[in-house]
Amino acid sequence: MISDTILNVVDLHKKYGDSIALDGVSFRVRKGETKVIIGPNGSGKTTLLKCLNLLVKPDKGRIWLGNIEITDPRININKIRRKIGFVFQDFNLFHHLTVLNNVMIGLVKVRKLKKHQAYKKAVDALSTVGLDNTLYHKYPAQLSGGQKQRVAIARALAMDPVIMLYDEPTSSLDPQFVNEVLQVIRKLAKNGVTSIIVTHQIDFALEIADEIIVMHKGRIIESGRPTELLSNPQNILTKKILIRNFRTLR
Ligand SMILES: Nc1ncnc2c1ncn2[C@@H]1O[C@H](COP(=O)(O)OP(=O)(O)OP(=O)(O)O)[C@@H](O)[C@H]1O
Ligand SMILES: [Mg+2]
Repeated sequence: MISDTILNVVDLHKKYGDSIALDGVSFRVRKGETKVIIGPNGSGKTTLLKCLNLLVKPDKGRIWLGNIEITDPRININKIRRKIGFVFQDFNLFHHLTVLNNVMIGLVKVRKLKKHQAYKKAVDALSTVGLDNTLYHKYPAQLSGGQKQRVAIARALAMDPVIMLYDEPTSSLDPQFVNEVLQVIRKLAKNGVTSIIVTHQIDFALEIADEIIVMHKGRIIESGRPTELLSNPQNILTKKILIRNFRTLR
């Protein structure tokens, strides 16, 4: 394996009944890299991310996180999950906990940190995502969508993940809150946080990705640097997605 590979995905397959969600997906992610996955609805993007976090068990294929094969049936799933930050479309915050406790709970219960250590890490993560400290004792229902998603990112980040996975992190936000969340993701990626981002925001994908992966019907139909895909898309679907979303493409 190439030494700086953090994630190695080999030939993943997943069916739901007769419906094929993943049909032989392979790729690698290097340390510090930002991969962006795009593709039409139902192309398997969420299923792929969920396989990486072991929320969905692939029918076939293997995944390595560093040197550990996480698809090995003997693996301790919880130990692996804490190394992978997952940011969901709909935030998935605990409604009965304050902002601070949403970020601290994993540190205390899973990482077994002392309360004061967890507090410090939580405050660090919340300040990294730019959340105002007057909001630390509020509950999720008292926050805007953008603030909620920034708390969710802070919660994932506080666990010191090896990689961050984002599944359409801005798609349930009102338009005025999209940028503040993209700004946080952009900052983390620029600071070297290894990331896989599923998004329909093509302009953002083109701006931030080291590599874009285009999925269709459970397969990777094309991948490459944004400039390559923009100037010379090989697949008609890639072209369509980029043209529909990126006005300057000719
Ligand atoms: N829990 C499930 N049970 C049955 N079928 C599922 C399930 N989850 C996904 N599928 C099917 O698997 C395929 C891939 O779905 P997936 O959610 O991974 O696509 P996606 O690319 O994330 O789509 P979207 O852009 O709409 O989020 C689709 O045909 C979907 O209907
Ligand atoms: Mg999805």
